[in-house]
Amino acid sequence: MDNSKIKRYTVTAALPYTNGPVHIGHLAGVYLPADTYVRYLRSNKRDVKFICGSDENGVPITLKAKKEGITPQEVVDKYHKIIGDSFKEFGVSFDIYHRTSSLTHHQTASAFFKKLYDNGVFTEEITEQYYDEKAQTFLADRYITGTCPKCGNENAYGDQCESCGSTLNATDLINPKSTLSGEPPIRKETKNWFLPLDKYEDKLRAYIEGHKEWRPNVYGQCQSWLNAGLQPRAMTRDLDWGVKVPIKGADGKVLYVWFDAPIGYISATKELCNYATLDVWNPKAEEYYIDPAEDDKCSFEEYWKDDSTKLVHFIGKDNIVFHCIIFPAMLMAHGDYILADNVPANEFLNLEGQKISTSKNWAVWLNEYLLEFPDQQDVLRYVLTATAPETKDNDFTWKDFQARNNNELVAVFGNFINRVTVLTHKYFDGKVPMLMEITEQDQAVIDELASYPAKISASIENYRFREALGEVMNVARLGNKYLADTEPWKVIKTDEDRVRTILHISLQIAANLEILIEPFLPFTADKLMRMLNYGGHKWEDAGTLNLLARGHQLNEPTLLFAKIEDEQVQAQIDKLNNSKAENIQANAKAVPAKENIQFDDFGAMDIRVATIIAAEKVEKTKKLLKLTVNTGLDERTVVSGIAEFYKPEDIIGQQVSLLVNLAPREIKGIVSQGMILMAEDSEGKLTFVQPAIKFENGSVVR
Ligand code: 2FM
Ligand code: ZN
Repeated sequence: MDNSKIKRYTVTAALPYTNGPVHIGHLAGVYLPADTYVRYLRSNKRDVKFICGSDENGVPITLKAKKEGITPQEVVDKYHKIIGDSFKEFGVSFDIYHRTSSLTHHQTASAFFKKLYDNGVFTEEITEQYYDEKAQTFLADRYITGTCPKCGNENAYGDQCESCGSTLNATDLINPKSTLSGEPPIRKETKNWFLPLDKYEDKLRAYIEGHKEWRPNVYGQCQSWLNAGLQPRAMTRDLDWGVKVPIKGADGKVLYVWFDAPIGYISATKELCNYATLDVWNPKAEEYYIDPAEDDKCSFEEYWKDDSTKLVHFIGKDNIVFHCIIFPAMLMAHGDYILADNVPANEFLNLEGQKISTSKNWAVWLNEYLLEFPDQQDVLRYVLTATAPETKDNDFTWKDFQARNNNELVAVFGNFINRVTVLTHKYFDGKVPMLMEITEQDQAVIDELASYPAKISASIENYRFREALGEVMNVARLGNKYLADTEPWKVIKTDEDRVRTILHISLQIAANLEILIEPFLPFTADKLMRMLNYGGHKWEDAGTLNLLARGHQLNEPTLLFAKIEDEQVQAQIDKLNNSKAENIQANAKAVPAKENIQFDDFGAMDIRVATIIAAEKVEKTKKLLKLTVNTGLDERTVVSGIAEFYKPEDIIGQQVSLLVNLAPREIKGIVSQGMILMAEDSEGKLTFVQPAIKFENGSVVR
């Protein structure tokens, strides 16, 4: 969008599901980049509303309620508070943290649906869905388990098989069972309302292609959706938790959670503009309002319906299709709304080399971090931004966390601020000394300082937050180098005036750092502001030497960052390893011992040693390898789901145990003759079951 046209910004951050607390993956993926962007805009005196809230509808909430034995309302109340508190404590400066169980949201989402319905946008379709007769309810895909038709896993979910990774429809499952009653469900006809996404394909293509500047991962995902051809998608569900479908004949149906959730951005803005308040917690509305300005009364329409508003959605990569295809199609169908100018989606953050997993407790929870590293929110903000998964998945490790704190925050940023403030107190009673004669060396530093704000702005405005933070750290490095080169502690013995100039310039660099670091590390900026005893500077002041006047009195220096010791990070690593050990135990319990079988049952299996003689990936699959094996009896083809664990070139020549008399099966068009025996650990990692020494092919395993 042409910058000169922008009058205001609406910045949204994905509404987290209220079925658990938030972890570092959420912070790194969505909330920190969004907060940094918004803080930067505010520092530039731009008019911005920063919108978020809890996503409280949908099947995940009902599943959680069932698991915890409480009502869905109790689930959302509990996590809305926990999540809202974590955001507030990490300084995520939403203008409102709303919730989709609120009346305003129900009314707004309902009215939106009704308008589309009245305009004849939806098509009605009767489809067969699974129904649990005992529980008297239609079953969402997640409520059905059964055998995966692709890999034979007996515990596949109706929407996905976690063993082979295939996306499924509940109707694909073999021997489906309802997780509510354990009974096989029946198929029953039901009517739902579909958004004909295919009709919006041309408009959506024009919209997406008008945004070639979007991150390649976002643009690419949109293109592949469009190229595959869009299908009508049901916007209602047979469920009893959520926003009721506001038309006759729709009893027992609610809006699809991905229909109502993005409308949550709109209802939150409405709430913000109508109920502006100075309270952090508004008991009347039962909502959080974080950091509201006194004059926060605003026109909701301007933030959503005016072409001069720039709308930006911060999300994780699993939300791309909903924000770039489905929500825009809904907005197009409605007609009154603006579309997002950018959707800077991040990739995923892993933890110690493994995917973050709520169910396996493989995560760093924000509420727990705060207890274990009190007042060190900025350390996590720093590390998560410095390693943000902007263009590819990235890994968080505790050792890297410690190293970045000790070698960058303490040794570079903190060290510079400490040296300059301590020296000023030592030589000049904590008063900003006068700028005397400027040398060429000084001028080079002043010029370099002046070049940073524009560079950092460009990075932030292009959503490159890692790069921007790196440049801010370079300002601290510039300060350190200047002190190291000029050595005021030596010069003071011979030339006090020279030291005045050096410290004057160094203090201005420190004050610049306060402005430049604020969008990233607001708590540090605040401490620095108190130490320098000044406030109110904005981005436009950065790059200059005019921030601290001669004679200005500084406050006592304090340390901005503390060293993190080996024991502290080891405790965190141990905690994760405990989760891993608990998972292994839980998994052993979760895969219960099977019932006894007769020897003949075992004897019926013909298992033999075989050697892999060729291997290649099966096209268009992530997990499958096509292997040629020598069984001693013959050479045959076996398809095996091991591509995530073995590279084809690494396994040629390896011996394996092969069930040779398994009836042939066709997998992805290839006839697979037999099954390779694998051991599986609690993480789902697979490894061959092999003879301990080289054996003749065809040797029997018994
Ligand atoms: O993926 C999620 O956590 C969703 N609750 C995000 C919703 S974003 C928006 F549309 F509300
Ligand atoms: Zn499967």
